[in-house]
Amino acid sequence: MSPIRRLLPTAYCLLLATLPGCGPAPLATFGVNTEGRDPSKLGRTEIEAIHETIAESFGTPDVPELPDEARLDRALLGEAAGPIAGDRQGRQRGLYRQHCAACHDLSGGGAGPHARLLGTYPMDFRLGQFKYTSTRDGGKPVRRDLERTLAGGLPGTAMPSFARLPQEQIDALVEYVIYLSVRGEAERAVAGLVLDEGEYLPLDEYLVEDEAITPVAEQWKKADSLVVDEAEALRAAPPLDTADRRAASVERGRVLFESPNAQCTTCHGPEGRGDGEQQELYDDWNKLKKGVSDEQTRALAERFALPLVRLRARNFHEGIFRGGDRPIDVYWRIHVGLKGTPMPSSGPDSSTEGVFSPAEIWDVANFVLSLSGN
Ligand code: HEC
Ligand code: HEC
Repeated sequence: MSPIRRLLPTAYCLLLATLPGCGPAPLATFGVNTEGRDPSKLGRTEIEAIHETIAESFGTPDVPELPDEARLDRALLGEAAGPIAGDRQGRQRGLYRQHCAACHDLSGGGAGPHARLLGTYPMDFRLGQFKYTSTRDGGKPVRRDLERTLAGGLPGTAMPSFARLPQEQIDALVEYVIYLSVRGEAERAVAGLVLDEGEYLPLDEYLVEDEAITPVAEQWKKADSLVVDEAEALRAAPPLDTADRRAASVERGRVLFESPNAQCTTCHGPEGRGDGEQQELYDDWNKLKKGVSDEQTRALAERFALPLVRLRARNFHEGIFRGGDRPIDVYWRIHVGLKGTPMPSSGPDSSTEGVFSPAEIWDVANFVLSLSGN
């Protein structure tokens, strides 16, 4: 073979690699979540151990892997993961990077390039908490809850509606959000084992499974059994077939809303304008950045990708309900609360009777909706 012929394939490859879309794409990796940790206490060996341990079970953003306990659908995950592309069957791939990563970040950490500009940050899925759910006992969301969030978006925040996407793509994205969340929570647990408990490296595979993966996977599995069923809830709803009956429900709701043990007014204010005496409100993502003094808060803030933001209780007169403005949506918010926020659960669950009975929750929901003119 002449030297030229031998060189040709190499030259061809080099040419290909310089064309956009040709050649191997750079491999995407998940950065290790070190948020909130003192940088001077993060050794390279430990960080690498966390990275490798988690990659072993969960793979990479291009090729997600799954521990069996997670019970996630591989085909759906494959559609949402990876770089943006179409496959041979004409199916769209890389849905998460196409639609979500600019805000939620590749890792699901919520500090994507757009996040800093927003007053309400994109959700950091790695904490494993979701605000708009239908599950009691502080449960994880069910797929239906996440689908509803994707379909409706979250009005009043930057989170857009994806209602125009076909159902299969929504299913794939929901699956991928759960994947990122399980992965992120497991990673935090592994970091705890390595950095706080000083476990020997490399970590024992069974220890990781028992302490970091199974407990999280179990919570997701359990969510289905914790749903506050819509049809059942509706059976407790008062009839609103006449103006008088509606007015009576709203009036009962107003009295309950103002009742001291319900606490609604301490945050939402006496008229539901979001101006209650409790103004120092933070969600769980921001609470971590709050020190006891301003100085400590400033020092802590440097350990996080995004600055501290305060949470505001909703002003119902603005008529914006992030979790949806159907009566059942507002019912769920009051019954199970907004997880990861100070907004409490007021309905019955498996350990308490709740502040309100289901019928009372409907009255309060009707009152809240009446303030917004809905
Ligand atoms: C323009 C920015 C933006 C884009 C794009 C975006 N989100 Fe969001 N997302 C947000 C914001 C802001 C929140 C609100 C967080 C909050 O209320 O604390 C949010 C919240 C969420 C939540 C949490 C809902 C809950 O119950 O707490 C989920 C799930 C979610 N987004 C999924 C997605 C998915 C999947 C995509 C892509 C298909 C996406 N988002 C695209 C900004 C965005
Ligand atoms: C400790 C403070 C606190 C108390 C008590 C409280 N809330 Fe809230 N509530 C909040 C905060 C904060 C939010 C917004 C959370 C967010 O945006 O992440 C909220 C949001 C809501 C929402 C809006 C949901 C949406 O879809 O946008 C409703 C409805 C609501 N609260 C009703 C009530 C009712 C009714 C009560 C009394 C039973 C109550 N809240 C008690 C703090 C509170």
